[in-house]
Amino acid sequence: MKFFNPIGPFLRCFSPLKAYPAAIAVVALVACGGGGGGGSSPAAGTSGSANTSGSTLSDAQAKDMALSLWRNDDLSIHPKGSCAGCHGADFFDLARIGTTDSDILRRATADGASNEQAQALAQAVKALRGEMKLPAQNARAFRPLQPGGSVLLPDLTDAPHVVAVKRDIAFANQLKTLLPTLMTGRIDSLAKAKQARAELLDLAQGTSLQGKNPSNLNLRSLPTGMLYPLWSADLHHGMQEGTFNDWTADIAHDPKPERKAEWLALQSKYLADPSNQNFWRMYHSARDMTRLPLLGSCSSNGLACGITDDFNKHKFLSAMMGQHLMRLQHIGKLDSFAKGAVAFAYLDTDPAYSYMKANNNALHYLPAPLWEVGDNGRVLLDSESKPGSFKQNLANLGYPVFAQNSIDPNRSATEEENALRLAWFWIGFTFDPSMSRISGSNATRVGEYMVGSLIENRYFNHNALITLMRLVTKGSLPEANVQRQNSTTTLAQLTPKYLMEYGYAWAYNRTVLTSPASLQPQTTLWNENRNLSIPAALKAESEALFAALAGNGFRMSIYLQMEQLDATGANALTSAELGNLRDSWLNDSINASNGNTIKGGLNAMYRHFAAHHPSTLTADEALIVALMTKLGLSTKTW
Ligand code: HEC
Repeated sequence: MKFFNPIGPFLRCFSPLKAYPAAIAVVALVACGGGGGGGSSPAAGTSGSANTSGSTLSDAQAKDMALSLWRNDDLSIHPKGSCAGCHGADFFDLARIGTTDSDILRRATADGASNEQAQALAQAVKALRGEMKLPAQNARAFRPLQPGGSVLLPDLTDAPHVVAVKRDIAFANQLKTLLPTLMTGRIDSLAKAKQARAELLDLAQGTSLQGKNPSNLNLRSLPTGMLYPLWSADLHHGMQEGTFNDWTADIAHDPKPERKAEWLALQSKYLADPSNQNFWRMYHSARDMTRLPLLGSCSSNGLACGITDDFNKHKFLSAMMGQHLMRLQHIGKLDSFAKGAVAFAYLDTDPAYSYMKANNNALHYLPAPLWEVGDNGRVLLDSESKPGSFKQNLANLGYPVFAQNSIDPNRSATEEENALRLAWFWIGFTFDPSMSRISGSNATRVGEYMVGSLIENRYFNHNALITLMRLVTKGSLPEANVQRQNSTTTLAQLTPKYLMEYGYAWAYNRTVLTSPASLQPQTTLWNENRNLSIPAALKAESEALFAALAGNGFRMSIYLQMEQLDATGANALTSAELGNLRDSWLNDSINASNGNTIKGGLNAMYRHFAAHHPSTLTADEALIVALMTKLGLSTKTW
């Protein structure tokens, strides 16, 4: 897997400066090691006790002082809690992202450090950069884990809705070589459908069995139009950074007093040897050994109040995991930790982790804090029920004043929710595209809110890909098909079965991008109005790519579904699976409360073919009818 490009970070260090005002450019230059004495070039400073900063402390002494500052959770000295309680076990994050000396001194002293301690931290961070040969970075532009090192088309200056369409097009264009069977020609046989599936699985798993993925890209390394969060978005640097949409936790999780010694021992063990085993021990113990001492009482709606603990917990766990991911990426060992399509499925079977199964009632779910930041953030900020500024929302939710004050006062809750959902759902998806090992939520299993965000923001091709990935990985991979056995710690292996459960992507009256005038509902998801128009050429380009991906996706699905319907024995669909597929997802149904018809997936498919594939409509309709016949459905509803 080519996840880490050792050349890229150095280049990227300098390229984003163009976009920055002069003041920030100077800061960034320092972070990139080009600003003279205060620079942090990876070549400067070596390990051991060599002193790299001209201070009176050796690097080893500075490191000790910095670590004891980092862990100090005495609220009378550090009123926000310990640095470790929000950032992770040590200050590797500050070293990796290129935080400048002045930002370290500013934030450390603001959070209760003495001058001497703050200086020691800056020195220790610099020493760590040297010791680990960390490439210089600009903390204002470096987005950890962003596949390929930057979002697609990073320098666009168009309005945000146009940027989204252009990035969505760029995303689909790169699929032409990776998924040629979907992207070109017409899938008109089971053999081609299987070929399309095999190409999707290569991309999901980072393999190239079909020869179309020579760089062994996987979903965590495939460049995307989704902008990953900064590690630290700090209002100090401008209103655009006044958000929770970053990796650092917003309220500290400090150790419970009676577990503190154990917790620090786990962290020390991890720091001495940041192995996956030591990471998971620490991660697994966080829930029992730490607590959230600073969240006040909540006067918001019940649902939002109920999720604040979870949101904060998942942000804390994400910071912890984010530090580990950054460490591994730097040394080129990310795939020892996140393996294959369902990244953490090895926890099921590797005996080293059997302790994680004890007392686990939700054994079939794997750690997924990154997804949950998006999903918990959604519930926390549900825009319909709680309009207003994000800052006011935080006050209602019981967030301490320091957290409220880290927010752009003009940022709306809707804006914040949208940003959290887009970024973290995508990141979460890349760790489990089957969406079946994340949580017991039905909405998660069909990607309901992720689909909603992608469509609302006009990432139609991203939406098509995640939907096909979900169906194909769930329908093929053993690790996406396990079930806890009664009250034991044993996971039973279920037979993967192909089920065309398009869910919210393309059922429930959902239009598949555009419906022709002759069919109802006749709508388009472009959702333009006078203020929000999109150039016709761009729409046409996006629609052509989408037509290939979604249209062939439907055809692939129909062939695979018909094959599945022919299966016998253990591979055959149960009557419950068949009923769910036929009546909930594919066929039309009636809304019991108002008697309205809810148009299912078959109807959406026909509308899609009619709008985007008129020249093959006869053949495509015949394919839908063949599936209907196998399902025992006889009435066409278009
Ligand atoms: C309550 C949680 C919390 C605690 C405690 C905390 N931080 Fe942070 N820190 C953050 C968050 C969140 C950010 C991201 C910026 C923001 O939201 O203001 C951050 C950002 C930073 C930055 C980068 C600022 C920039 O310019 O990007 C530094 C440096 C930093 N913290 C140092 C420390 C040190 C040192 C301590 C302990 C003395 C500490 N922090 C304690 C949450 C915390």
